[in-house]
Amino acid sequence: MKIKLAPSLLAADFGDLRGELRAVADLADYIHIDVMDGHFVPNITIGPPVVNALREGCKTPFDIHLMISEPLKYAERFHVEEEDIITFHLEAVEDPWPLIAEIRRLGARVGVALKPCTPAEALAEILPEIDLALVMTVEPGFGGQQLIRSMLGKVRRLRELVEELDAGVQIEVDGGINEENIHEVVAAGAEIIVAGTAIFGQPDPREAIAQLRRAALEPAPGGLEA
Ligand code: DX5
Ligand code: ZN
Repeated sequence: MKIKLAPSLLAADFGDLRGELRAVADLADYIHIDVMDGHFVPNITIGPPVVNALREGCKTPFDIHLMISEPLKYAERFHVEEEDIITFHLEAVEDPWPLIAEIRRLGARVGVALKPCTPAEALAEILPEIDLALVMTVEPGFGGQQLIRSMLGKVRRLRELVEELDAGVQIEVDGGINEENIHEVVAAGAEIIVAGTAIFGQPDPREAIAQLRRAALEPAPGGLEA
């Protein structure tokens, strides 16, 4: 399976977001943007005006990860294109169906994210209607955390559900992914890999992307796999 890499701007220099974006855009499959409201998660980042400004002139699709309490209210503020994904948290909505319809109306692809405590089965009913399932491999809110290893089982379970339903949903992982563990998350069934610190926290983000792609193909020497 060919993996897709989504560098997360959360770990980039917020004083030079456009420069950071341009530095990696041609090597990235998606640009992952974390939108946080200080309510759904205990952190605040950027919102539609900044995301829309960055979107202009960037050919790489955006993967907009909404960690906000009222995603239905704010989704339309994002200027999206056909290949872009808007991902909301299942835990943030009482009923996901109106938001799925709203994101389709806006012309984007639909992603649904699960916090670590939400089981894969919570997505069973909506899997046939969405394009992407995001397994948070850390508690959402901050970059630079360590991957919660039990989430690998959730990725495997989700992969089974996707295959049982023949749903064609892409599975994405987000949080604590690095050169040492990327092979394991891919082996568990993840296709889109978000990485913040492992890319923008490195001296050469372009080289870091190349290293992650290499590491995804084979277990890291001295890595965590038994
Ligand atoms: C965390 C965010 C992640 C974050 C990942 O809530 O959703 O996208 O940027 O950062 P790293 O890769 O540093 O764990
Ligand atoms: Zn994210």
